[in-house]
This record gives sequence, structure tokens and C-alpha cells, in this order.
Amino acid sequence: MAHEWLDRWREGRIGFHRPETHPALVRHWPLLGVRPGTKVLVPLCGKSLDMRWLARHDHPVLGIELAQEAIEQFVAEGAGDVSRYQQGPFSICRQGSVELWCGDFFHFHIDQAAEIGAFYDRAALIALPPATRQRYAFHLAQLILPGCRGLLVSLTRASGDEAAGPPYHVSAEEVRELFTPNFQVTHLEDGAPEAGSGFRESVWALVRRGPLT
Ligand SMILES: C[S@@+](CC[C@H](N)C(=O)[O-])C[C@H]1O[C@@H](n2cnc3c(N)ncnc32)[C@H](O)[C@@H]1O
Repeated sequence: MAHEWLDRWREGRIGFHRPETHPALVRHWPLLGVRPGTKVLVPLCGKSLDMRWLARHDHPVLGIELAQEAIEQFVAEGAGDVSRYQQGPFSICRQGSVELWCGDFFHFHIDQAAEIGAFYDRAALIALPPATRQRYAFHLAQLILPGCRGLLVSLTRASGDEAAGPPYHVSAEEVRELFTPNFQVTHLEDGAPEAGSGFRESVWALVRRGPLT
């Protein structure tokens, strides 16, 4: 799976990347009540411009991404000095208040996540095959403390092969099943179906409950 993502980035097959900030972030983040200054974890971050929006809104960002190519593009398309350092298996690139950790999200550890107080998932859960999604939900819960909150932008598809992907169809029932053990889960909205693909986005607010189950 990892090599498929690296191939995509090398070959520029990144149709998931949006050239502007996601409207769901702009619409819903301010209502989550995450305090300014809170560091936001962005798993499977790509080179999302949403990270710049969060940084502009006083949130230090910690993005995690497999593809070095994505990280290089992010900093090249941004402004400001870049510093680089190593933390265990992760190569880190920092520009302004955005730090991008290159490596596997599942290798990111609780002791590296000390300052994280919120998270933002757009197209991370839906990038993962069914068997990995459970692991993702649990790993995310392990990384953040009770009370931490985040926004999830997922995808559903009315028809078609539900097992095909990425992007994968993740039903509302599955979102609830995956996250309810460790999060308070609130459905915020469903987007309009995308022409052609039949996918529609669904937006969720998640608040980490404790203790971990
Ligand atoms: C569908 S893209 C979404 C990127 C970004 N969230 C956005 O909204 O543009 C999924 C990204 O996750 C990365 N990725 C896939 N598996 C990963 C893993 N296990 N750890 C870190 N990054 C991963 C891929 O390289 C890809 O850039």
C-alpha cells in the first residue's frame, strides 16, 4: 500500500489534493471550540492547504505523511525558511508553525504526541482499506487525551463497489462503530453528491472520551 502512495506522488496522480482550503474546515472548525494555540494533528496530511489555514488561525500543526515528495511540494509552495531534523524514524520538515513528519502514521507514538490537543482528518480515514480503519481509529484515540476534539471529513457513496478504493466508501454506521468506543461522535453535515463519482462528503465532530477502550 505504501508504495502505491509513493508512486502516486511521484507521478502526480493526486486528484485528492484541493487547490483551496476545504469549506467544511472553515465552516465547522470555529464551532468546535478548540482554543487558539492548541496544536493540531493532521494524519495522512498530503500537502493540504488546510494546514496553512489552521496555522493562520493560531494553531501549530503537526502533519504526518508517508511521501517525502508531498512534504517537499508543501514547503516549496509555501513561504519561509525550512528547518529539518530527525525524530526516531521520522524526518521532520518545519516551515513557520507547520511541522511535517515524513513516515508512517502508525509508527507515530504517544510520547511524540505530547503537545497535541486537537486533530483534523480530511481524506485520511477514507484513504485506508477496511481492515486498517479500525487500527486508525484506535491509534488516533491513543495519541490524544480525553477532552481533545477534532473534525473528520469522510466519504460515502450511494452505489457502486463499496470495497473499491481509495478513496473508500465509509458509511455513517461505520464511522459511529469505529469511533464511538473512544469518542463522542456528532454528525455535522452531508455534502452534495459529486457529479460522476457518486461520492458525497460527510462531516463529523469527534471528542475523545476516556479511559481508552
Ligand atoms: C487521500 S490523501 C489525503 C491527503 C490530505 N489529507 C488531503 O486532504 O489532501 C491520503 C494521504 O495519506 C498518505 N498516507 C497513506 N498512508 C499513510 C500512512 N500510513 N502514514 C502516513 N501517510 C499516509 C498518502 O501518501 C496521501 O498523501
